[in-house]
Amino acid sequence: MQRTLILLKPDAVQRRLVGDIIGRFERKGLRLVGLKLVSASRELAESHYAVHKGKPFYESLLSFLTSGPTVALVWEGREAVTVGRNLMGVTDGAKAPPGTVRGDFAISVQNNLVHGSDSAENAALEIALWFKNEELVTFTATDANWIG
Ligand code: RTP
Ligand code: MG
Repeated sequence: MQRTLILLKPDAVQRRLVGDIIGRFERKGLRLVGLKLVSASRELAESHYAVHKGKPFYESLLSFLTSGPTVALVWEGREAVTVGRNLMGVTDGAKAPPGTVRGDFAISVQNNLVHGSDSAENAALEIALWFKNEELVTFTATDANWIG
């Protein structure tokens, strides 16, 4: 079963949207296998967004991600990466459609509330960056026959 890393960035925590956003992922049918509140270090933020190193927004992005607590989540389910990205909406909150997290709550490009892995390969790398193996909990969902 595929996994994805979802981050609720510091703006989501500060704006008290954590419960609403987690609820959307739950109701869609993804299964929660990891959850914690993290104060991201500069080192962690650099590793997480290494692909953007050198871009004009890189320093600002690191400041943003290290500016307060982030909720780190691992979700599991069929096509979890695509499902997560669809629930988030496109990067620019102004362009994200209503019904998505960014479309409903964001108008900024940078302060767009959520991060989601963009491939299964990157999900595995990102999950290893944010979680220790023993922090991930696998269990049998009792409603699997209805959701799957
Ligand atoms: P994420 O990695 O956080 O899930 O977001 P994404 O795939 O939709 O967008 P990506 O291109 O990977 O950019 C990572 C994050 O950098 C900030 N950003 N700022 N000012 C800008 O032009 C700009 N572009 C991107 C956003 O916070 C974006 O989510
Ligand atoms: Mg990205």
